[in-house]
Amino acid sequence: MPADEPQPTTDHGTTDSPTYPPSPEFAAAAAVGADVYDRAAADRLGFWAEQARTLEWETPFSTVLDDSEAPRYGWFTDGRLNASHNAVDRHVAAGHGDRVALLWEGEDGGSRRITYAELADDVARAANALTSLGVGTGDRVAIYLPMIPEAVVAMLACARIGAPHSVVFGGFSADALHSRILDAEATLVITADGGYRRGAASPLKPAVDDALAKGGTAVAHVLVVRRTGGEVAWTPERDVWWHDVVPQASAEHEPVWVEAEHPLFILYTSGTTGKPKGIFHSTGGYLTQTSFTHRAVFDLHPETDVYWCTADIGWITGHSYVVYGPLLNGATQVIYEGTPDTPHRGRWWEIVQKYGVTILYTAPTAIRTCMKWGEDVPGGFDLSSLRVLGSVGEPINPEAWTWYRRAIGGDRTPIVDTWWQTETGAIMISPLPGVTAAKPGSAQVPLPGVVAEVLDDAGAPIHDDRAGYLALTEPWPAMLRGIWGDPQRFADTYWSRFPGVYFAGDGARRDADGDIWLLGRVDDVMNVSGHRLSTAEIESALVSHPWVAEAAVVGASDETTGQAVVAFVILRDGEEVTDRPSGDDADEQVVAALRSHVGAAIGPIAKPRSILVVAELPKTRSGKIMRRLLRDVAEHRDVGDVTTLADSGVMGLIQQGMAKPA
Ligand code: WTA
Repeated sequence: MPADEPQPTTDHGTTDSPTYPPSPEFAAAAAVGADVYDRAAADRLGFWAEQARTLEWETPFSTVLDDSEAPRYGWFTDGRLNASHNAVDRHVAAGHGDRVALLWEGEDGGSRRITYAELADDVARAANALTSLGVGTGDRVAIYLPMIPEAVVAMLACARIGAPHSVVFGGFSADALHSRILDAEATLVITADGGYRRGAASPLKPAVDDALAKGGTAVAHVLVVRRTGGEVAWTPERDVWWHDVVPQASAEHEPVWVEAEHPLFILYTSGTTGKPKGIFHSTGGYLTQTSFTHRAVFDLHPETDVYWCTADIGWITGHSYVVYGPLLNGATQVIYEGTPDTPHRGRWWEIVQKYGVTILYTAPTAIRTCMKWGEDVPGGFDLSSLRVLGSVGEPINPEAWTWYRRAIGGDRTPIVDTWWQTETGAIMISPLPGVTAAKPGSAQVPLPGVVAEVLDDAGAPIHDDRAGYLALTEPWPAMLRGIWGDPQRFADTYWSRFPGVYFAGDGARRDADGDIWLLGRVDDVMNVSGHRLSTAEIESALVSHPWVAEAAVVGASDETTGQAVVAFVILRDGEEVTDRPSGDDADEQVVAALRSHVGAAIGPIAKPRSILVVAELPKTRSGKIMRRLLRDVAEHRDVGDVTTLADSGVMGLIQQGMAKPA
């Protein structure tokens, strides 16, 4: 890689670590066997067509892949279907209406159990209610909800009428919500009075009110679920209680059959510029691949498994592996509203024990946090129901992998380390639990029907363990269909680094066994606790503060969160800055004010772990900030050769500042 390109940050694990083959009993009962690789390799398109036919189509497709407008690929283009019909009604029609779909656990101790038949009614009623509020096929609906069953119902109701949903994570600020509502031109927002987090009711509706007060939106109505019973401000012509319109609506609803390429949803994610990207997904291809991967990667046996994915619906993992994948497969799943340590650090394990969870899917950052809390916390619960464990969102270091398998999996469960992205829509690289001998720290092999390579700078595949760029060299059904409203950015971001090939933005290496090891992002995207954050977005939040003249943000490695946000700021001098604190603790006050400013602009997850006030930033002679050097400083590494800097004394000063506690 060229020296001035960001380098991968993580390089955990070795090729010759021990492997963990599935037990013969597990392999014998597995939902998919080794033959699936051969079938997919022999006829890739035929394989995906076969997977697509596990869904119910109102109009069957005859075209599998349409590449006439590549890279805007189309899949199953002449077929028609409906996502909510496939996720819910189909199971009721097949006689599984009494099967539990959702085992919901509120943070405050409440719980609800919703069968497929009940879910079908709820979704149909909500779809009728949305229609009566003026939402039509193709209109966009923003969803800003806590982890409550209505979140699932709301997403499926949108899908039922062909209105793409845009779920905005409940931890994002009013500003972030506003820009997403504007970009998608959403006409309706679904929210709640609040939700429970860390033992207290945390309000949500005020952020919607603030976002809409900023103006410019096309929002006609706000549909509000009552969850906490807290006081809410009310705009009578605009705001509507969910309980006033949904339960009263008819449970009869004919789904809107849409073309396979009809956009199912938009989900905003961070890119390398300040503006989040509205990744949008299709219906037919996305459903095909989420259902296949959910069944194959987690070895789902829907009649007996109790599945639990801990992701929030505000992230792609919540879309593909809480809502669509599991429901398409008729799974019974747990949904938990709150935080893992409320009211005690064993809460997750108590839930596993209570519901007899068999498949658990979570993020390395959560596993590392549990490691810190100690093995005796999970040790106090009966976790013997667990039989498959999954990991997603960031590289999992072998130490955490091994701990996960021992402390949670009783030294018995296969672990699937699943690599994918908001853009890929579904899991792309992962072991299959009944087939693959797992190698801790490696996501291992492309799934059947997926073609991935590690490429060198010139675009040639690497097979000898050297670091390179991860690329997906053939289209896949759940691939993003674009960036909402910005086809040029879609082409530039993903398809220009290696022409005709999807560039993932991740560094990787491929070992002699052909296993892929992910090395972290190679662009200016950070990964904090498995959440994607953009350095540019946080920098622009910082410089929007009147005290800040310039800012540079880097992701520094962090033992628990994978990466942490570290910011370097130059303060503004001059007469116009009158309200800046002075005196002994001025720096601390400035740092505290800037952290909360970032929290307000983006959301608490984007608050820098540390902010360093500096006099200068290291820049090349052409004026480009050398983030690599800042990362070296933030990770307490020797910065080495700084002769390309315009002012080589700068780094010494910054390092002295870093040595002081922030
Ligand atoms: C990272 C989350 C290593 C990667 C599903 C990717 C991973 C980004 C893994 C996408 C994994 C995700 N091993 N890295 N198993 N899974 N990543 O869009 O850098 O929130 O590009 O999707 O997370 O994050 P996103």
